Amino acid sequence: MTRHDVLNPATEEVVKTIELADERAADEAIARAQKAFETWRNTDPSDRARLLRRFADRLDAANEELARLEVANAGHTIGNARWEAGNVRDLMEYSAGAPERLTGDQIPVPGGMNVTFHEPIGVVGVIVPWNFPMPILGWALGPALAAGNTVVAKPAELTPLTAMRIAELALEAGLPEGVFQVVPGSGAVVGERFTSHPAVRKVVFTGSTAVGKHIMARCSDQLKRVTLELGGKNANIVFADADLDAAAAAAPGGAFDNAGQDCCARSRILVQRSVLDEFLEKLEPAVRGFACGDPSDESTGMGPLISASHRDKVQEYIEGGDVLVRGTAPEGKGYWAAPTVLMSRGPEDRAFAEEVFGPVVSVLPFEDEAEAVRIANDTDYGLSGSIWTRDVGRAIRVSRGVESGNLSVNSHSSVRYWTPFGGFKQSGLGRELGPDAVKAFTETKNVFFAS
Ligand code: TAP
Repeated sequence: MTRHDVLNPATEEVVKTIELADERAADEAIARAQKAFETWRNTDPSDRARLLRRFADRLDAANEELARLEVANAGHTIGNARWEAGNVRDLMEYSAGAPERLTGDQIPVPGGMNVTFHEPIGVVGVIVPWNFPMPILGWALGPALAAGNTVVAKPAELTPLTAMRIAELALEAGLPEGVFQVVPGSGAVVGERFTSHPAVRKVVFTGSTAVGKHIMARCSDQLKRVTLELGGKNANIVFADADLDAAAAAAPGGAFDNAGQDCCARSRILVQRSVLDEFLEKLEPAVRGFACGDPSDESTGMGPLISASHRDKVQEYIEGGDVLVRGTAPEGKGYWAAPTVLMSRGPEDRAFAEEVFGPVVSVLPFEDEAEAVRIANDTDYGLSGSIWTRDVGRAIRVSRGVESGNLSVNSHSSVRYWTPFGGFKQSGLGRELGPDAVKAFTETKNVFFAS
């Protein structure tokens, strides 16, 4: 075990000092999860559902406490943090509907009866990043538990506190010991152990594409199931026929929410050339009005970046670009970066091509629909994106043409716990959320009974 200071990114002060697990501690947690699986998988579906509902009730009662903890640990705005804690509650409630409804098929066959079962996989290892510590944990946790699996979760070293508290709430709600455990530790130790330990039968990873590829390669050795939610470089396409006021007003939120540390951030704005100047005129006041500051202040639009090293990385992109608009950010302690709009020199411009994961958005004009779709798809990523137009036919054509898992027309909304979420291309593998989320944590078993 190593001691580790968890910092507040807005003040650089220590929020809490925790113990990081070593490989032995990870193995012990996995062994407990393996043991708990034998009873949890056979727990009556109605009892599993009831426990998930009780867990949701505890999460609901702790919403403000969890939100305040996230403000301190991750620098999320208080409004966002309340939504995030509520999202985990909603996931548990939604998942609580699954255990009694996890029905298989009865398929007509000659000479007997054929039925399918959705069996739980076993111990599921969930590796969580620092950008959305609560929701990303909840997205895997709810459906995995509902299907009868047990879960070991590794939060990011930078942001372990809410996950640790959520694990306590699960026990308080009556979930049996070992059904859900949080193992704070480094990716190199605990995360790696999830990929190598034979009892962990599925790994759900959210984070960078580079680490996601590494995890997939490691999991291939034992053919572990994987779900990967990776990076994004998402296009916000604004056509000349769009409601430009609405598109410009919404663009900063689409790019700078959570200080841009969002795989769904609309960090490339493609604007039809004929309205470029008009759009930029409308965009500037919207960017200047996007307040960066104390995340516990209800009126703040975005807080700090997660760490000093991440701020330095984001700063490099800003310094290397042609700045069109620069908002303001606090000075002094804290890992601050002001919301920034860059004019792209072309599709190969670094800030336009790479995932910055900060409050930086790049603008590039296009001529027509075909060029907009071509530029939007000219990336290895394919996670989300937006299309602004008043032409329904164009909205249909472009939303079918853009190679992304989650698109929105005339909005930047992409995440609801009851609709599927996941990436095309190098943005990921598999889908989370939505009506099929539970099935991703099961194996289909086919049984023929001879008559
Ligand atoms: P990653 O290194 O990918 O970290 C994400 C999670 O994976 C953390 O819990 C991390 O543990 C763990 N991890 C790291 N190496 C591992 C390994 N070899 N085996 C198993 N688990 C491992 O992301 P980051 O360094 O935090 O951020 C780097 C960049 O990734 C960002 O700038 C951004 O571009 C991207 N990113 C994307 C997302 C999403 S949602 N797509 C989320 C976060 C970051 P530690 O606690 O040791 O870090």
